[in-house]
Amino acid sequence: MNKQELIIAFYTAFGPGEDPRCFFAGGRVNLIGEHVDYNGGHVLPCALTMGTWGLLRRRADRRLRFYSLNFPQAGVQEGSLDDFSYRKAQGWTNYPLGVLFALKERGITLEGGFELLIYGNIPNGAGLSSSASLEVVTGAAVRECFNLCVTDVDLALLGQRAENGFVGLNSGIMDQFSIALGRKDRAVYLDTATLAYEYVPVDLGDCLLLVMNTCKRRTLADSKYNQRRSECEGALAALQQKLPIENLAQVSPEVFEQNKALITDEVQRQRAKHVVYECERTVRACACLRRGELNAFGQLMNESHASLRDLYEVSCKELNTLVEEAQKQPGVLGARMTGAGFGGCAVAIVKADQAQKVMDAVGRAYEAAIGHPCAFYTATIGDGPKEI
Ligand code: GLA
Repeated sequence: MNKQELIIAFYTAFGPGEDPRCFFAGGRVNLIGEHVDYNGGHVLPCALTMGTWGLLRRRADRRLRFYSLNFPQAGVQEGSLDDFSYRKAQGWTNYPLGVLFALKERGITLEGGFELLIYGNIPNGAGLSSSASLEVVTGAAVRECFNLCVTDVDLALLGQRAENGFVGLNSGIMDQFSIALGRKDRAVYLDTATLAYEYVPVDLGDCLLLVMNTCKRRTLADSKYNQRRSECEGALAALQQKLPIENLAQVSPEVFEQNKALITDEVQRQRAKHVVYECERTVRACACLRRGELNAFGQLMNESHASLRDLYEVSCKELNTLVEEAQKQPGVLGARMTGAGFGGCAVAIVKADQAQKVMDAVGRAYEAAIGHPCAFYTATIGDGPKEI
């Protein structure tokens, strides 16, 4: 949809009045560094040009009105600045309401209400962060329309706070950060312990970034995400009996091997092993990307997937099928699940001139094994939030 069509949809939903302002924030795909962002590790995600549009118009009273072109059956949902507690029945509007909650916690209150129309072209539940995209576009729209003193890093933190404190998912900072700070054709190499970050050019030469969607929907709040996080906390507490560490990312593979017996719970030991090795892999992968060593990068992607499948146990039959079928194809340098897992998407680096063959072969094998088709997208890496 173009801006004009979105404005017409806005008037249809909310009626005549002043023109709304129109904002956009992308989704994200993580290249490597999975399930380490709540363990102080480095991650290497990119913002996508696929994303979420938000059209906002201020109101003179304190009412909040929401409409999503992705959930038209929900109609116009009403709220008020004086009452925004989490309610499951509020569906998607819990994300923008969560951003208002996070602002309020910081002592930032809005002078008045607003109308917000949302349209997104990221498939929901695909693991490409449609919810973080919605949070960041809401934050950016509210910031600009109400002249709030909020930085891009704040936008990321507010989005994460909305997830953690309002929606109830104890997610890390990776998704919101990469969306709020994204740069065209660059990955964000982020140290999640300090929020120090660098941009790394994603120069894939004759290759492209292929996103493969299992089309198996999952909602993170219902998944075992929070459980993984507490398993890591258990492992950390066990290692802290002896090691002066604040997070699992501070443990090198060598130190881990010497001290892993401190973690008596076998499951927790496996989870920690994934985190420790994934952190180290991500640092190496980033160096490979900077040097243009794409084959080595692809190999690290493959290792990351195996670790997520076997040690962290967040993959599933659908993701394994996509990844393993892709890894067999000529022209595929590496493939792995991306995001939280349990469904959603995988990502592969593929020679551009072989991409069609890869999609045909993987698509056929996937449908035969799983019983429904998968979907493919070529990822294009975009900028952070902007006004259109
Ligand atoms: C989800 C979370 C992120 C991160 C990934 C796994 O996308 O929102 O914070 O933990 O899973 O790497």
